[in-house]
Amino acid sequence: MSKIDKVVLAYSGGLDTSIILKWIKTNYDCDVVTMTADLGQGEEMEGIEDKALNTGAVKAYVEDLREEFVRDYVFPAFRAGALYEGRYLLGTAIARPLISKRMVEIAEMEGCQAVAHGATGKGNDQVRFELATMALNPKLTTIAPWRDWDLKSRTDLLDFAKENQIPVPVSRKKPWSIDANLLHTSFEGGELEDPWNAPGPDCYRNVVPLEMAPDEPEEITIDFEAGDPVAINNVKHSPAALLAKLNELGGKHGIGRVDMVENRFVGMKSRGVYETPGGTIMHIAHRDLEGVAMDREVMHLRDSLIPKYAEMIYYGYWFSPEREALQAMIDKTQEKVTGTVRLKLYKGNCVPLGRKSPFSMYNPELATFEEDYVYDQSDAAGFIKLVGLRLKGRMQQSKWGGKESDDTCE
Ligand code: ARG
Repeated sequence: MSKIDKVVLAYSGGLDTSIILKWIKTNYDCDVVTMTADLGQGEEMEGIEDKALNTGAVKAYVEDLREEFVRDYVFPAFRAGALYEGRYLLGTAIARPLISKRMVEIAEMEGCQAVAHGATGKGNDQVRFELATMALNPKLTTIAPWRDWDLKSRTDLLDFAKENQIPVPVSRKKPWSIDANLLHTSFEGGELEDPWNAPGPDCYRNVVPLEMAPDEPEEITIDFEAGDPVAINNVKHSPAALLAKLNELGGKHGIGRVDMVENRFVGMKSRGVYETPGGTIMHIAHRDLEGVAMDREVMHLRDSLIPKYAEMIYYGYWFSPEREALQAMIDKTQEKVTGTVRLKLYKGNCVPLGRKSPFSMYNPELATFEEDYVYDQSDAAGFIKLVGLRLKGRMQQSKWGGKESDDTCE
């Protein structure tokens, strides 16, 4: 492998990535440029640049990617109705490709030969970072210190920090591995490693426990255009501002917590607790609007592809020909998903109360239980006779056990 002179590192400013910064610098005898992405995780970005430079970076990028994140990653996935294993709204998985994209851009600008991340060797995130990097610039190498170094325990890490004058925060180490952005907060590890253990009170961040949700329900409307939410209660918002607003509403009413054991791409099962307050409201409202504005066969076809599409995101194949092909098809299905959904938020529930669309395919004349003039009920008898024909055939098949008979059914 050719010599690595310069590396761009995904840097959070926390202890682990500060150690990684120092370790790479020493181990590879190279320059390190850091990239810290603001994806709406709610952490202070102020001071990160100084911190990176003081820890030895030659340059520190702090990038506000919030709008791009919601507009170009979250919204496309929500147009698809993406859900992994029926429950996970992919809050972490959908953020990784954007972080990688920005890292690759910076690597190219800065003339780096490698990108580095602080994901461990056991998780999905390493795969996502590296597949995205490979897709966007195959010439770049990835450095993943967690897989390479001989710092085996927390004590080793702290010793390394002390030896290298890296300040160690005095606060007790968080009992979880947390990943947060505008779409979600995830909790893994610690007491959650026993899947029978209920998450304790500390395992809440932006969503209130159900017991603390207000006794009064709240009604809201969301306007959609071509599958994307654009306004709440008739007030237009940018994508990031809209999601932030829905997070506030959902969080307050205890909406959007999921506790599940999922299948990681790297082979093991793992337990995660996710808070996705705004995303959950968005997902429910969007699906409800499709009820009036989407053709039946288009919907069923798209629905059959949701597990596959979600798997592509979860596995890290965002920048892949198959995801892009599917996205083109999905976006086509969304052209008429425009309209308004009315919802009630109440104690963990998000309940659609009504929906309307200028492209509604709902025809009250057809659907009515009253007398109508457009649908001839006697047509239904012939329809059922034909669609059921093969079921009658099956009964004959088992009755005759393969022998011929003239005993035909009606
Ligand atoms: N299990 C989720 C996923 O794979 C969340 C991962 C959270 N990542 C983290 N570094 N804490 O998408």
